[in-house]
Amino acid sequence: MVTLTIKTGGTCILSLTILLLAFVYKRHGDTDGDELKAQLNTVLNGLLRAEQKVGLDPETRVAVGFGSCLDLIADGLSVLDRVGAEPPVRPRHVNEISSLTEFEEIFAYFFRHGAAAERFVSNDTLFSSLTEAARNIVTTQYKMGGNAPVMASRFHQEGCKVLLGAQMSSTLKTEVSNDIQVVGDELSEDDVHLLLEYSKGHRWGQYQAQRANRFIVHSDVNNPMLVSLESFADELSMFSPNLLVIGGIQMMDNFPFQPGQREARLKKLGQLLASIPKETSIHFEMASFAEESCLQDVVEHILYYTDSLGMNEQELPNLFSLLSNGSMTLISDPYPRVATTLDQMRAVYQILRDTPSVNGRRKLSRLHVHTLAFQAILTTKNSRWKNAMSAAAKASLTANRHTCGSDYISIEKAKILLDESFSMSRDEGSPRVQFQYDRPVSCWEEDDFSICLAPVLVCTDVVQTGGGGDNISSAGLVLQI
Ligand SMILES: *[C@@H]1O[C@H](CO)[C@@H](O)[C@H](O)[C@H]1NC(C)=O
Ligand SMILES: *[C@@H]1O[C@H](CO)[C@@H](O)[C@H](O)[C@H]1NC(C)=O
Ligand SMILES: *[C@@H]1O[C@H](CO)[C@@H](O)[C@H](O)[C@H]1NC(C)=O
Repeated sequence: MVTLTIKTGGTCILSLTILLLAFVYKRHGDTDGDELKAQLNTVLNGLLRAEQKVGLDPETRVAVGFGSCLDLIADGLSVLDRVGAEPPVRPRHVNEISSLTEFEEIFAYFFRHGAAAERFVSNDTLFSSLTEAARNIVTTQYKMGGNAPVMASRFHQEGCKVLLGAQMSSTLKTEVSNDIQVVGDELSEDDVHLLLEYSKGHRWGQYQAQRANRFIVHSDVNNPMLVSLESFADELSMFSPNLLVIGGIQMMDNFPFQPGQREARLKKLGQLLASIPKETSIHFEMASFAEESCLQDVVEHILYYTDSLGMNEQELPNLFSLLSNGSMTLISDPYPRVATTLDQMRAVYQILRDTPSVNGRRKLSRLHVHTLAFQAILTTKNSRWKNAMSAAAKASLTANRHTCGSDYISIEKAKILLDESFSMSRDEGSPRVQFQYDRPVSCWEEDDFSICLAPVLVCTDVVQTGGGGDNISSAGLVLQI
């Protein structure tokens, strides 16, 4: 074929033809695909090796608070369609949803960025129509929800002895393993949280989701009040945990409290945390806050009392901004650069490691940030936290297992979003870390801390995103206790 085309002379045509042939070969041949698969396989095996390197002491005791709910997991756009929601002309952020218009505006606000968020619906008629619509969709799933039960189940699956502080109905309680000790009142009806899930590229009118995620709505009155706090506190010293995990506090965000009520509840929690013996590590899983005064109270009464923090790529810049100048950033890049995230982690750590250890307060010694593309764990050198490399690998694997909905990881359903190398900081002249496929977790030391960073084998066939952070954070913690 090549010889036929040289007739008109000129090396130009010849090389063009060869180029074309090469192009056709690449398009239709499998070289690229094979190479990519081999790379993914190498990374997967590297992560699995790192995960299996360390085990868990079966006597490990973990206490988790607070709250629970019944999650309805529904296809977001189908629910919107059924309640007659229309894409708004202009997306808008509202703190509390009282009408369909506000719902449309705030849904669009987070949807176009693919950012996870959770809001209280104060209009009962509206909330009922949304849940009703979700219940009428055959694919809607019902699951035990709330950060605490998800984390508790994860710790139990990993082999820990678990105490859970959560109020729930007797029906929902049957979803919790008998081995988990549950303290908290029995409810006649569970609080419902509606998870409106969407995929990357989903379109709603002129809006398109930048990544798969969900918008959560609820009209929950028990969880914002931390109703299981007292009974949990009563059991805690008897249970004597190695690790105490606090989550579900974002339920207080934008809830219409009576004046002083929120501060009073958080203060009570702060007093409990202050009374915990130093040998028990305390982790706080942050989640999404949009109300400045609420997050400020959380910093005051929870953050200063914790050893460890877990959060995602939206929550980190928000906390960083609040700690540095008292204001919030509601939306951030859903695909942050590694360097940006690392800089924000250093900044948050440097502020919170200086917390004076007085009156039960603790210096931060661990910070885990989970993003779609990577897991980063910062720990103070010679601190109580061990095995950071294995923990980062396990967190990364859990992200894939959770979103793909399977314990077995298939490289057919995975991709890596990280580049071949990343810069350690946005500061000019910062060193770059070269990504090693066979040893995928990069760990290094700086100042008085070390950082381990693992790429995520991002699931390309997403089954669920809700609860991901809880599973991922717990998986990371379990190897570090
Ligand atoms: C509550 O929602 C319903 C249904 O969308 C609506 O008809 C009603 O006007 C709303 N109430 C308020 C106070 O906005
Ligand atoms: C607060 O700090 C954040 C992070 O540095 C920054 O993005 C934001 O613009 C600052 N806001 C104000 C009001 O200074
Ligand atoms: C995440 O946690 C929930 C609740 O424990 C569980 O049903 C689900 O299987 C977990 N996902 C993974 C990947 O472990």
